[in-house]
Amino acid sequence: MITATDLEVRAGVRTLLTSPGSALRVQPGDRIGLVGRNGAGKTTTLRILAGEGEPYAGTIIRSGEVGYLPQDPREGDLNVLASDRVLSARGLDTLLRELEKQQTLMAELVDPRERDKAIAKYGRLEERFSALGGYVAESDAARICHSLGLPDRVLAQQLRTLSGGQRRRVELARILFAASDGSGGPSQTTLLLDEPTNHLDADSITWLRGFLQGHDGGLVVISHDVELLADVVNRVWFLDAVRGEADVYNMTWKRYLDARATDEQRRRRERANAEKKAGALKAQAAKLGAKATKATAAQNMVRRAERLLSEVDDVRVADRVAHIRFPAPAPCGKTPLMASNLTKVYGSLEIFTGVDLAIDRGSRVVVLGLNGAGKTTLLRLLAGVEKPDAGALEPGHGLRVGYFAQEHDTLDNNASVWENIRHAAPDAGEQDLRGLLGAFMFSGPQLEQPAGTLSGGEKTRLALAGLVSSAANVLLLDEPTNNLDPISREQVLDALRSYTGAVVLVTHDPGAAEALDPERVILLPDGTEDHWSQDYLELIQLA
Ligand SMILES: Nc1ncnc2c1ncn2[C@@H]1O[C@H](COP(=O)(O)OP(=O)(O)OP(=O)(O)O)[C@@H](O)[C@H]1O
Ligand SMILES: [Mg+2]
Repeated sequence: MITATDLEVRAGVRTLLTSPGSALRVQPGDRIGLVGRNGAGKTTTLRILAGEGEPYAGTIIRSGEVGYLPQDPREGDLNVLASDRVLSARGLDTLLRELEKQQTLMAELVDPRERDKAIAKYGRLEERFSALGGYVAESDAARICHSLGLPDRVLAQQLRTLSGGQRRRVELARILFAASDGSGGPSQTTLLLDEPTNHLDADSITWLRGFLQGHDGGLVVISHDVELLADVVNRVWFLDAVRGEADVYNMTWKRYLDARATDEQRRRRERANAEKKAGALKAQAAKLGAKATKATAAQNMVRRAERLLSEVDDVRVADRVAHIRFPAPAPCGKTPLMASNLTKVYGSLEIFTGVDLAIDRGSRVVVLGLNGAGKTTLLRLLAGVEKPDAGALEPGHGLRVGYFAQEHDTLDNNASVWENIRHAAPDAGEQDLRGLLGAFMFSGPQLEQPAGTLSGGEKTRLALAGLVSSAANVLLLDEPTNNLDPISREQVLDALRSYTGAVVLVTHDPGAAEALDPERVILLPDGTEDHWSQDYLELIQLA
């Protein structure tokens, strides 16, 4: 259980949230959706609830276990095996290692006395492992990992060799494994999950939904996946970026949406009423004010009118929305980018071999494949940030690549917003760049903010602004709609629709593929090409 009392959350000088009293409480059975626009403060608030950040004011009391999945993958010891990372949640990884050590000793030792000692030690360790539910736990962990799209071969790899998305799935598996204690009894763990579906395929999302629906401990989930919210959530915390307050709704997602709509209407009606009355009072006051003897009465009327107006909430300041346009691509030859025989191997693991492709000017291609089929790797090769093990890129005449990386690793986290965009477009004029950043809703003090402290959605916006500034003629987009709130997502998709350069898109978001209106699809790991058809859209929904 987690209770926040008189919580106040700030970022820099901005107040993100004030919540007097202890309305922000997570109890067993609560499945809370924490929602709000990009940059509203969801991640910051969740981090504080998890105990990984300090609030500006207020106290947080936690009891029981807490499983926290941050929005950005954590840097830890990257040399551990993925399976050990998951098992470590219940301290089983070290026991397993010890068991293996004694097993080797037993086989190698020739001195009978020493061998007996090893056998006895093995016995004791095995008993402990078994008493801790080790065998059941091991299969539990495997089941959770498989459900999240982590096959055995990935689990046997070191974390450093995994993609950002895979690492995040390992973290999620670890947290869910810790929360399901194997006995099948109710879990007391409070789960705090920040965008858990970002790197999951459709099957995994369906599984996760089921898992969360059945979770007995408390849950706070941040997600732009409205279907997940609709299926899982029984309470909603809405962070209002305009008022810096949290509204608590004790209802399901569907009810909440209705309530919000009604609320908006009521507010608008009250405001209109108050304005009408105030208008009448002021008109009256103006007439009276002409006569010196009635001046006081007139003043009182004006004061009353003002009070009327101040008593109703402002109609929500229309949420600001970026109007994004990808610029005209720089001129280029007929086929700006070709690649032949691309092959990528990690150790003994073959991602794909012998992939040929040709990206024509203005063509639109979607790359499809299951989790781990190498979609991100292919884009990294095409972008030139990673070298193939065999095969080569053949840049065509005038090629300019714009690469949007899933993990935002095209951004320099230590540099400011301004420095990042300056770097992306060194030749552009200062005024143009300011205008561009403004169009992506960055202005004022936020230009000086280090990119590393931006929210997930803000990072996506900045990375897209960088793309826009470069007049690229081949855009390589890896999950460009992850982290975006619904309104910002629409803006990006609109920009994609009207862009005239070539696009190679990797996405789990069927809406994004539809907006691209692609001609072709490349299927990984084989690299076969096909004409785009409605069937493939369904495949994205399923894959
Ligand atoms: N050190 C800092 N200085 C100034 N502003 C900051 C700092 N750290 C964070 N912020 C700002 O605080 C705001 C809240 O960030 P947070 O990551 O909590 O948002 P969020 O609601 O999770 O957004 P998203 O949906 O994009 O993930 C953002 O506008 C962010 O830029
Ligand atoms: Mg966030």
